[in-house]
Amino acid sequence: MFDLLIKGGTLPDGEIADIGITGDTITTIGKLDGAQAGQTIDATGDLVSPPFVDPHFHMDATLSYGTPRINVSGTLLEGIGLWGELKQVMTQDEVVDRALTYCDWAASMGLLAIRSHVDVCDDRLLGVEALLDVREQVKDYIDLQLVAFPQDGFYRDPTARENTIRALDMGVDVVGGIPHFERTMADGAASVTELCELAAARGLQVDMHCDETDDPMSRHIETLAYETQRLGLQGRVAGSHLTSMHSMDNYYVSKLLPLMAEAQINAIPNPLINIVLQGRHDTYPKRRGLTRVKEMQAHGINVGWGQDCVLDPWYSLGTADMLDVAFMGLHVAQMTSPAEMRTCFDMVTTHNAKTMGLADYGLHVGAKASLIILDAGDPIEALRLRATRLHVIAKGKVISQSARADAKISLPGRPPTSRRRHQVD
Ligand code: FE2
Repeated sequence: MFDLLIKGGTLPDGEIADIGITGDTITTIGKLDGAQAGQTIDATGDLVSPPFVDPHFHMDATLSYGTPRINVSGTLLEGIGLWGELKQVMTQDEVVDRALTYCDWAASMGLLAIRSHVDVCDDRLLGVEALLDVREQVKDYIDLQLVAFPQDGFYRDPTARENTIRALDMGVDVVGGIPHFERTMADGAASVTELCELAAARGLQVDMHCDETDDPMSRHIETLAYETQRLGLQGRVAGSHLTSMHSMDNYYVSKLLPLMAEAQINAIPNPLINIVLQGRHDTYPKRRGLTRVKEMQAHGINVGWGQDCVLDPWYSLGTADMLDVAFMGLHVAQMTSPAEMRTCFDMVTTHNAKTMGLADYGLHVGAKASLIILDAGDPIEALRLRATRLHVIAKGKVISQSARADAKISLPGRPPTSRRRHQVD
């Protein structure tokens, strides 16, 4: 007798299986004919997947678009300036409200684990207080990991260093940084060293905004890989954005990629935001600004797509849909073969779960019973359709349901139809 039984769904690897859930745990996967359950969902023909995971977000800024004004140039630097204006007027309650609304959207989209940076450059640390509160409020359905992020520079901002330590003392989970925004390359490299030492001393993970620039000489990822290896942090460090790698000399990259692999760096490209922000100083040819995704994967580096922003000073769209993120990444990185498209789906599920170090994630006996049922036959179709999340289950409980996005089509000379499904093997 299960609490919840999901019948006949297609798993991401193509296996068709029933999934039995007891409490908040997956207890059986296989053929469960005749099994009894408190609630049964028929998933025949639908894709059953572990939930989406976003390893890079800014929940303190989300849903603030237009406050106090919009980003006219569309650049990263105007976005940082605009965020500075917003910080002067925002309140803790308002941050909590915006973040909880975003978490509602995320839950409906099957996005059940999020790593959010939180700016620590406001001495009041009200964003930290707000997101610690939100982390507690959503813990039954979203695993929210927080990164202490010195947005205005760990050294460049006069109190960021002290505030980063205060935020970690308050319970923020991960050490962040922004070396390319320090005053000099030397300061940037020094910030990477000190922040990694801080993480090592506290047993924490590291996730840095690293080289989010079109400058091919921005090479802080090299220092990040070096410090990771020196301090024994292998597998616990992420480099977010890494866009300068797009513009780097090919010979240099041929040396860099093995160093990153050796340090087991996790890479987090953010395709929606970086296709918008990068290349803004170019005429033509205009660079895409996305890091070297396929090349990193060929070296065995774990790479997962991040979302970064929704309706904030840097990005004017977004819906908390990791399929949108993967869809854009697939295009910009030209990952169009069937195997590469499947990898794009894995990047917003299992790869990102690895980056965040999520325990008990996945579809296997003993895993947390968090999963999603999509109106698609396989991961490629899920990407093509940005498929409806028919059911979202968090820790054994159904928390969101949506109707299929069918149209009733009645055309002269055509048979009636309603479905958009079209799987290609
Ligand atoms: Fe970011």
